[in-house]
Amino acid sequence: MGQNMTRKIIAAHLAEGEMIPGQEIALKIDQTLTQDATGTMAYLEFEAIGIPAVRTELSVSYVDHNTLQVSYENADDHRFLQSAAAKFGVKFSRMGNGICHQVHLERFGVPGKTLLGSDSHTPTSGGLGMLAIGAGGLDVATAMAGYPFYVSMPQVVNIHLYGKPAPWVTAKDIILEVLRLLTVKGGVGKVMEYTGEGVSYLSVPDRATITNMGAELGATSSIFPSDEVTARFLAAQERAGDFVALGPDPDAEYDEVLEINLSELEPLIALPHMPDNVVKIADVAGRKVDQVFIGSCTNSSYTDLMRVAAILKGKTVHPGVSLVIAPGSRQVLVSLAANGALTDLVAAGARMLECACGPCVGVGQSPCSAGVSLRTCNRNFEGRSGTVDAKIYLVSCEAAAAAALTGVITDPRDLGEPIKVEMPEKFPVDDRMIIVPPANREDVSIVRGPNIQPLPVASSLPGEIKGEVLLKVGDNITTDHIMPAGANIMALRSNIPAISMHAFERVDATFAERALAAGGGIIVGGLNYGQGSSREHAALAPLYLGIKTVLVKSFARIHMQNLVNFGLLPLTFVNDEDYDTIDPGDVLLLEDVRQGLVTNTLTVRNLTRDKAYPVKHSLSERQIEIMLAGGLLKYVKEQV
Ligand code: F3S
Repeated sequence: MGQNMTRKIIAAHLAEGEMIPGQEIALKIDQTLTQDATGTMAYLEFEAIGIPAVRTELSVSYVDHNTLQVSYENADDHRFLQSAAAKFGVKFSRMGNGICHQVHLERFGVPGKTLLGSDSHTPTSGGLGMLAIGAGGLDVATAMAGYPFYVSMPQVVNIHLYGKPAPWVTAKDIILEVLRLLTVKGGVGKVMEYTGEGVSYLSVPDRATITNMGAELGATSSIFPSDEVTARFLAAQERAGDFVALGPDPDAEYDEVLEINLSELEPLIALPHMPDNVVKIADVAGRKVDQVFIGSCTNSSYTDLMRVAAILKGKTVHPGVSLVIAPGSRQVLVSLAANGALTDLVAAGARMLECACGPCVGVGQSPCSAGVSLRTCNRNFEGRSGTVDAKIYLVSCEAAAAAALTGVITDPRDLGEPIKVEMPEKFPVDDRMIIVPPANREDVSIVRGPNIQPLPVASSLPGEIKGEVLLKVGDNITTDHIMPAGANIMALRSNIPAISMHAFERVDATFAERALAAGGGIIVGGLNYGQGSSREHAALAPLYLGIKTVLVKSFARIHMQNLVNFGLLPLTFVNDEDYDTIDPGDVLLLEDVRQGLVTNTLTVRNLTRDKAYPVKHSLSERQIEIMLAGGLLKYVKEQV
């Protein structure tokens, strides 16, 4: 039986397990990346493991999220990250060098290799033929320490692209079409593998736009072949030696197949507030626009911004629109400056921002209240822009540029002849903003300003857990409910004592103080507890506040893994109706916890109401061992 690309890479990196979809496998990780919002924790965790240097082929620490420096916190984080990178043998991509995924694609991604990143859009490098996966910081820290990454063996979906893209149809429209067809849940437990003649019309950055937004499908990863287009891109980056051809066998088998005819697509748009809320632009053309943001790890490459510059050249941004543009990397910005396209953008009225995430993650340029913002990013969740009642639409660069000129949502086909931008034969390669670790790493001291606080570490699992129900929540509690984002809170990502005081603040503003005063306790919740991101602070903050166990009807998978990683016991009701008989303030008792965990025969006694509830867990044997050890850090340390 022929192999697809995903199975070829997994087979070459399989450390444990069988390649049966749904079963846990362990993958050897070749490269890692971190960004600053998750990286500070990852390096504190790596430090706690206690080995002197990373054991990967390559690890890179990027600074791209919290680059606004209105106070000392972000600057403290950057200094810590730079010194930790030097100490542990990690390359450090400085502030202003660009967004992690764009820079990784340009300078480091290698076809056929595995990449684990502490950012959900790590699959962007799948555009180069890598198997690139996003994970929590602790998973990345353990991968840096040379341990394999545990993941469910994915199903592989073939997205077969045929035909030539219709005029003005871009990579963004292709992934929006996939999102329209499959929805934001359509990729869970799957790798999306793109093949077909349509692939040949897409440049590497185009492919990366598509693999980037595979994260919005919930996919484990997305991948394109490594072909002559890839070879040309790598050669233009002076990395011809990194090229390896990769493709599926002619008779490769897939778990599912989806066919898309590119010649029949039209320019598309995702309406507020979900990336799969996709319609044709023509259906909503004419709606007034207040802001246009062009950038983010989805659409900020050289060719993206060259097309924008060509559309704006000699014209003027509409007086009702604020146009902001953040190039994805310093290389992109230097290229635009060198060939005059930057002048065209600025002359037209674009406001150029730093090469960083910026508005994508609500750091600066929040839209006006109730404003409409057209963005080239990957997410349009309510409130993410920093303006609670703003309406965010997701489009291609071309559609964004068109709206910047007209002041209304505009079908780019109205602009006339499509723009054609050639990929340069050579990019202006200059890695001076990537600091290589020194040879004498023993002499390096890690610099910790006041924003760098020690990592909380769980005590080993006790024999008995007794505590008050400090909080009872309903169904679909997200990691945003547990640990909100936003620029002010994100600046505290490396300061767990401070950030923990914001835990659940949008649900119950007294929670953190009550938990500290009570010396910990228990959280009770409904269905799908912890859905949303892989944010490990949603487990770290409860750990710091003394929470011992979370008892719910069901968990979102990644959050449950994070609870285990940090030694918080995730339990579910055997009988969901028992949830109704527990009130906040009740005192619960779990006896023989360690033994009951192994045999999965645990009972919670409600001492306040004199009731008993059978409860259970869905942990693997490895996860039980991690819980018994007191979390993944201690578990890994025991093996060092
Ligand atoms: Fe940054 Fe937004 Fe991508 S926060 S990594 S540009 S999704």
